[in-house]
Amino acid sequence: MLKVRNITKKFGSQRALDNVSFDIQPGEIVGLLGPNGAGKSTLMKIITCYIPPTSGDVEVCGHSIFDDPKAVCRSIGYLPEHNPLYTDMYIPEFLSFVAGTYSLKNVKQRVDEMIELTGLTPELGKKIGKLSKGYRQRVGLAQAMIHDPAILILDEPTTGLDPNQLEEIRKVIRDAGKHKIVLLSTHIMQEVEAMCSRAIIINHGKIVTDGAVAELEKKGPLEHLFHTLTIDKAK
Ligand SMILES: Nc1ncnc2c1ncn2[C@@H]1O[C@H](COP(=O)(O)OP(=O)(O)OP(=O)(O)O)[C@@H](O)[C@H]1O
Ligand SMILES: [Mg+2]
Repeated sequence: MLKVRNITKKFGSQRALDNVSFDIQPGEIVGLLGPNGAGKSTLMKIITCYIPPTSGDVEVCGHSIFDDPKAVCRSIGYLPEHNPLYTDMYIPEFLSFVAGTYSLKNVKQRVDEMIELTGLTPELGKKIGKLSKGYRQRVGLAQAMIHDPAILILDEPTTGLDPNQLEEIRKVIRDAGKHKIVLLSTHIMQEVEAMCSRAIIINHGKIVTDGAVAELEKKGPLEHLFHTLTIDKAK
């Protein structure tokens, strides 16, 4: 279970997040939507213990980000925005390194499973720095899933994927979401329709809607709803 409680994050005088609260249960794939600068990546960085909130708390599988950040990190797989990777490493070398940071047993078996799952086999002869964007994205996903975390936090996971890769990676995420909690951000509404059971839309750091995709779609296309809720009326 992921519990986000009254999270506020200030950067100087700017409130990047303003009193954000929600719960996510296992088996839910939740799309986090919002315009550029809405606060999506900031929220993900807080949930994954990369930055602290100004106020509020997050509970991950019963552990608070303040009281037990190590337990939080063990329960979460995170694909950050811009997907930072060690470009001088080969894929199995990098994945073994990540597995080592979680003290996994059966490292080789786990690395092989991840390579198979994310379709990396054809690229094993190349260093990560030489991979195309879509294949780097797959490595990012593989490192996020290697320790079989209960929660996946994926910041724009399908950016840069070609249509074939997109379908494969969506399937990997959908399958993972059958038993895990998945929170992913995207700007592609079809992605939400294809993968997510629930959508949370934020605008200027505040939740403006949170509901089942099927319910939200009854009011019309998601794109219209997004536009109506996030259009900047002040401008
Ligand atoms: N370290 C920081 N210092 C100052 N301001 C920051 C910092 N990190 C984020 N911000 C600001 O917080 C706001 C939210 O940024 P964030 O990256 O969370 O947006 P986002 O919803 O992920 O946008 P995008 O869709 O463009 O990825 C932005 O106005 C951004 O400039
Ligand atoms: Mg972002």
